[in-house]
Amino acid sequence: MNTRVNIAGVEFKNPITVASGTFGSGMEYGEFVDLSLLGAVTTKGVANVPWPGNPTPRIAETYGGMMNAIGLQNPGIDTFCKRDIPFLKTKDTKIIVNVCGKSESDYVEVVERLGAEPVDLLEINVSCPNVKEGGIAFGQDPKALYNITKAVKAKAKQPIIMKLSPNVTDITEMAKAAEDAGADALSLINTLTGMKIDVKKRTFAVANKTAGVSGPAIKPIAVRMVYQVANAVKLPIIGMGGVATAYDALEFIMAGASAVAVGTANFHNPYATVEIIKGIEEYMVENGIDDINELIGCVK
Ligand SMILES: Cc1cc2nc3c(=O)[nH]c(=O)nc-3n(C[C@H](O)[C@H](O)[C@H](O)COP(=O)(O)O)c2cc1C
Repeated sequence: MNTRVNIAGVEFKNPITVASGTFGSGMEYGEFVDLSLLGAVTTKGVANVPWPGNPTPRIAETYGGMMNAIGLQNPGIDTFCKRDIPFLKTKDTKIIVNVCGKSESDYVEVVERLGAEPVDLLEINVSCPNVKEGGIAFGQDPKALYNITKAVKAKAKQPIIMKLSPNVTDITEMAKAAEDAGADALSLINTLTGMKIDVKKRTFAVANKTAGVSGPAIKPIAVRMVYQVANAVKLPIIGMGGVATAYDALEFIMAGASAVAVGTANFHNPYATVEIIKGIEEYMVENGIDDINELIGCVK
């Protein structure tokens, strides 16, 4: 049985990774999960300098998921290179570093720094709805997305994955812009912008007023978008949005994703990733599937 998949020339031992920002760099989760079992670990977004993130409260619960406006709090690239990369290198897994920035030069600076590091893929977050400058500003306009993709690609030593926002009218337009500019792969979806009001306090539940919705509630939207993008471009796709079980992950694969990221589910079940990997293998045995690649985009 083969569970290996290929993302832009990088081979994962299985299609399961984690969604950026829901797993740190795996240090805390490493106490529960053998990280070497994962196809890849995707880190929290890292910027050229440390970011404090947004004021609290920054998270809230909602039906079938959660809302967050962390604002990409991160220790900056210096600490990340010293602390997180050496830790991840002790594991037998691929490393995807998620990159964030406020301007084109911020992104390029981080990407250039990572060129000298032993990481496998760079995921460029142009879709965070929770930072005022940069972030989603690049991910909601096809021209801006084209330009940032081109700028990053020109300096990147590793293949680049552009992470797309669902907060657009036509996600295929964004996918095509990234492909035209030279992206090596796409990941989708980031969170959907939402709002929650604390009725007792008559205020916003999250200080940022708006927050990104994630978890099972967004899964049908994410599967639809992965299907649309898979049919619009040739790039490999990492699908995500509400994946909590092996069947959830298989939905994304059948819709056209070559790999799948598990996000919010990690918060209530730290074993979610390994359970999903095992569940996919069981599905393959039960259904006589020899190669996971047979399932990618099998639903037309
Ligand atoms: C608490 C939290 C922090 C996140 N931080 C990041 C981040 O740093 N960079 C990024 O690209 N996406 C970030 N995301 C988005 C997730 O990677 C993912 O795209 C989204 O949550 C949908 O997947 P899920 O429903 O499985 O969580 C974050 C999501 C959550 C819930």
